[in-house]
Order: sequence, then C-alpha cells, then structure tokens
Amino acid sequence: MTSKDTRLVPITAKESEQLRQTAITIQLRHVIEEYQNGLPIQPNGTGKELDNTFIINNQGYEISGKVVPEVIYQLSAFYKQRNRAATVTINNYSYSGPEIVFSRGQYYLLFIKQKSQQHFSTLVSEFFHSVSIWQILAALGISFLVCFALAWYLTRPIHQLQKATKAIAKGDLQARAKDFIGKRADEFHDLAEDFDLMADRINRIIMSQKRLLSDVSHELRSPLTRMQIAASLAQKHNQATDDPSNCSHHIERIEVEVERLDELIGELLQVAALERGQQHQQVDTFVVNDLLDVIISDAQFEATANNKEVVFVESPMIHFKGYYNLLARSVENVIRNAIRHTPEGTRVTVAIKDAGPHFSIIIEDEGQGIDESHLDKIFEPFYRPTEARERSSGGTGLGLTIAKRGVEVNDGTIKATNSSNGGLLVTITLKKNRRVN
Ligand SMILES: Nc1ncnc2c1ncn2[C@@H]1O[C@H](COP(=O)(O)OP(=O)(O)OP(=O)(O)O)[C@@H](O)[C@H]1O
Ligand SMILES: [Mg+2]
Repeated sequence: MTSKDTRLVPITAKESEQLRQTAITIQLRHVIEEYQNGLPIQPNGTGKELDNTFIINNQGYEISGKVVPEVIYQLSAFYKQRNRAATVTINNYSYSGPEIVFSRGQYYLLFIKQKSQQHFSTLVSEFFHSVSIWQILAALGISFLVCFALAWYLTRPIHQLQKATKAIAKGDLQARAKDFIGKRADEFHDLAEDFDLMADRINRIIMSQKRLLSDVSHELRSPLTRMQIAASLAQKHNQATDDPSNCSHHIERIEVEVERLDELIGELLQVAALERGQQHQQVDTFVVNDLLDVIISDAQFEATANNKEVVFVESPMIHFKGYYNLLARSVENVIRNAIRHTPEGTRVTVAIKDAGPHFSIIIEDEGQGIDESHLDKIFEPFYRPTEARERSSGGTGLGLTIAKRGVEVNDGTIKATNSSNGGLLVTITLKKNRRVN
C-alpha cells in the first residue's frame, strides 16, 4: 500500500461489525454457492448490500464480474502482508475489508463500500498519521501570528478611544476620539463618531451652564451695586443734614432694587425647577380656549392701563392634556412681552390654529419685531437684543426662557418670527392627542 492517494487507518468497531454482518448474510452465501454451481451472477441490482460488496475469489477475480476499484486490490495486498483488515477513504466513500468467507473448501475475500462516516477519533488519528510535527508547528506559528494581529487590530482602537476618554476626564473638553482613532471605516469609526457627538453635547451643556452662572452673577451684581450706592448716599445725606426724611428717596431706590432681586431670584428658581422636570406638576385635560380666556382677561387689565388692547380672535375649540400651570405661565410671558412691545393705541392678537394632529397658539403684536439674527437667541436666559431699553423697562430677561421650558415640558415647540405687519409673531405648537404617563 504505497499509493499516494490512499491512507491506511485502523478499521473502526462499527465498520468491522457491519463487515461481519454483511459477510454472514445468507444472501451472500447464496451468491457464492450460485457462483460455485456455475450460475451467472448479476454484477449489479442484486440487492443494496450486494451492490456495494466485492467478493474476490482465490484467483483474484470479483465473482459477479463487476469492475473492482484499485483500492480493493490494495486492501487485499495489505491483508496478505499483515494478515489484517483495513479501511480506506477515497472521495467520501470508505472501502473496508477483507472478511474471509469459506465455502466448500474455497475461501473468498469480502469487501464493502459505504458512504464515509468518519468519527472524530478517526479524523484525529488520520490527521496525526498524515502530518509531520513541522507542519503542526508551522500551523501553530501561523495561527499565533494571525491571533496576535487580530488582537492588535481589535484592541488598538479601544486604547485610542481610552486616550480620548482620559483626556476628557482630565478636563480637556475639546478632545475628540476621531483625532486619536484616525481614518477607519468600521464600527470603531461609528463608535468614535458617537463618542464625539456625546462630547460635543456635554461640552455645550457645560458651556451654557457656565454662561448662565456668569449671567446670573452679573444680573445679581447690578441691583446690588445700585443698592450699595443708594445706601452710601443715604448715609452721606444723613450725616450732612441729620434729617432722616432727606434719605427717603434713596431708601425707596433700595426697595425697588430689593423687589427686582426678589423677582429675579423667583424667576431663576422657576427656570431651575423646569430644568429639573415636571415631577411636582399635575397633568390635566383642559380646553385651551379657557386657559387663554383667563390669561387674556388678566393681560387686558395691564394693557388698558397703557392704552393698548389684547384681542382673542374667534378660534376652534381645542382640548389638551398636559401641565396647565406651566403652559399658562408660558403663554402669559409671551403675551406680556407683546403688550410691552406693542405701541400705544395698537393691539395684541391671540389666536388658535387647528392643524390636524397639532394645534398652535399664535400671539402677534404690532411693535418693531426683532432683528432676524436675534430671533433664535431670545429664548436663551438673559438675552436682550436691545439691552438699554430692556433694562429701563425692568425685564429680567428670563420670561422667554421660562416660556420655552414650559412648552417643551408639554412636548411642544415655540418659535418667533417677524410678522408681515412688522411686529413679533410667536407660535407655540402642541400635539392634540398627547399620551402622558
Ligand atoms: N414682542 C416682542 N417684540 C420685540 N422684542 C421682544 C418681544 N418679546 C421679547 N422680545 C425681546 O426678547 C428679549 C427677551 O424676552 P424675555 O421675555 O425673555 O425677557 P424680558 O421680557 O426682557 O424680561 P422678563 O420677561 O424676564 O421680565 C426681550 O428683552 C426683548 O428684547
Ligand atoms: Mg418678557
């Protein structure tokens, strides 16, 4: 058995058993006897077992005359040399044998062919028979290199992401993962992008908090400084004239500033409460028209005193489920701004527009409107496009911030545009069938 394409491996117990069973079938004996009686034997079609069986007589011929694969002669030669049966697998078929069958003083070599059912142990032993130690070492070496390269490929971007994370943790809020990870087109690239998006947002939040803090400090300092000046002037007057009535207007000034401080702190607390969420507020289902009626009748009082008017135009009836107080506060802030900015003798118009699943509350005045470049920014805390005028009018600059938060808590949006008549037009859009837990 020196042929290159055949490999000898020990016969398995199962194959041996099959071989034995096949050998002792009456059918086979019958065939052999028929052969000995000189009867012709069909090479194929005599039965499934026989079709895959080769019976070689002592002259070396297959008794039915069918074509015998070369491997059968190799197995037969191996048996003669070693006195052992063997099995060989070629092209998914295993050839096993021989089993010796004696009949009327003659012996016959029986081989079977069957679809290969290689067992793991056979495969392992085959493997070790077929490969040398150098081949195994080479395979191990290559697989080690492949594993090492794979591990390096996978862990390198993680280390790079780690560098970005550490830089941010150290306070470098400008650090971005993409600068570390370089150009890639895989999941790590996507992860780096998400990481950078997160870093951008955090950076923006921290920046806006810092700005709010510095704005708050600035806003608090101005009335405090004015109070300080008024107090020292009062003291000077008092020392100079010894008449306390001379100081009364300074004391009044101090009172005004205290009121402003109180108002500012109250509004700041509201902003903070809205930032924290709506957990202490109750969800109600209410008619938006009723809410507007209440606010407009209060606002009307303020407007009439200044020769202005607030008009609620005929609107469709809208039911809404949400936070009544927060929405009322939002609308009130916008209407009070409109009254403040609409000139004497003009009117502020309030309307509801039904738009299918949404509806809008529209508040329009006849003032000067706002420069386009400032339109988005007026919702930021303390943002006042016309600084000097607002200070004299006494606004804290938090009204629209509160309005925006109140609308957002109700899942809505607020937008300011300049209306065709030149005034400001504020649109609050809300969902009609809102689900609230
Ligand atoms: N209807 C309007 N017409 C023109 N400008 C407006 C109008 N509403 C708001 N603004 C501008 O937007 C700025 C921000 O408004 P916001 O309501 O936040 O603050 P405020 O009215 O100054 O103070 P507060 O409402 O806290 O008393 C105002 O200072 C004003 O310049
Ligand atoms: Mg305001």
